[in-house]
Amino acid sequence: MQQLAGRVAFVTGAGRGIGRAIALRLAEAGARVAVTDADETSARAVAAECGERALGLRVDVTDPASVRAAVARADEVLGPLDVLVNNAGWDKMEPFLESTEETWDKVIAINLKGVLTCVKAVLPGMVERGGGRIVSISSDAARVGSSGEAVYAAAKAGIIAFSKTVAREVARQQINVNVVCPGPTNTDLFREVAAANPRLGDALKRAVPFGRLAEPDEIAAAVAFLASDDARFITGQTLSVSGGLTMV
Ligand SMILES: NC(=O)c1ccc[n+]([C@@H]2O[C@H](COP(=O)([O-])OP(=O)(O)OC[C@H]3O[C@@H](n4cnc5c(N)ncnc54)[C@H](O)[C@@H]3O)[C@@H](O)[C@H]2O)c1
Repeated sequence: MQQLAGRVAFVTGAGRGIGRAIALRLAEAGARVAVTDADETSARAVAAECGERALGLRVDVTDPASVRAAVARADEVLGPLDVLVNNAGWDKMEPFLESTEETWDKVIAINLKGVLTCVKAVLPGMVERGGGRIVSISSDAARVGSSGEAVYAAAKAGIIAFSKTVAREVARQQINVNVVCPGPTNTDLFREVAAANPRLGDALKRAVPFGRLAEPDEIAAAVAFLASDDARFITGQTLSVSGGLTMV
């Protein structure tokens, strides 16, 4: 069903992995999608996969000027944004005691501040128009902790608290703000982490009650639901899509 026909969506970090699956899902549901990524080539390639209603743009979420320029361009080419999906993320697995301040800054800049920057760029238009959907990708690491991911988990937990607060602030404007928390998911990011530390990769997989990784499309399905009219009365919520890893 074309649940998002006529809607315009802006997805960050959509050049591969979960973001790519989200862009494809939203396009399949009828949305015109701004497929954005710090890597312009992959953004354009995924936009081409989404079809002729999609636009591939280079966006580095740590650079507010690049975010603002892309939001303006998407508005001009595709129309005013109805849906923002904050998906761009990055992690470096290491014990907290071995981590450096430089890594903390990078993890927080991409995973937390990048979300604030994108919401700040998109929300005024949604408030003005009296409607919109924001879905941000956090992680089950934010809900239950995850060894080797202390700062990442903190940044991802920040997304949850931020989203609940913004959800309250803009509820009267009929804007829904929700969070999806993937568990370990079969993407390049996970494969890179598992290749560097095979025991950790296996342990993460075994910790999932369903006994396997999530596939990117399973995360995308939850995002598409939260972006759809079926979720119009759901706001300020955090939904884990993790095969039972987190049950709260
Ligand atoms: N894969 C997992 O197991 C898992 C689990 C929980 C949460 N997540 C979260 O899901 C999201 C997607 O993860 P993934 O596994 O698909 O990752 P991925 O590394 O496969 O893809 C991430 C994409 O984000 C882009 N990106 C990185 N930094 C960026 C920046 N500054 N600005 C714009 N784009 C940038 C990359 O170019 C890449 O295309 C992330 O927020 C991640 O933290 C992933």
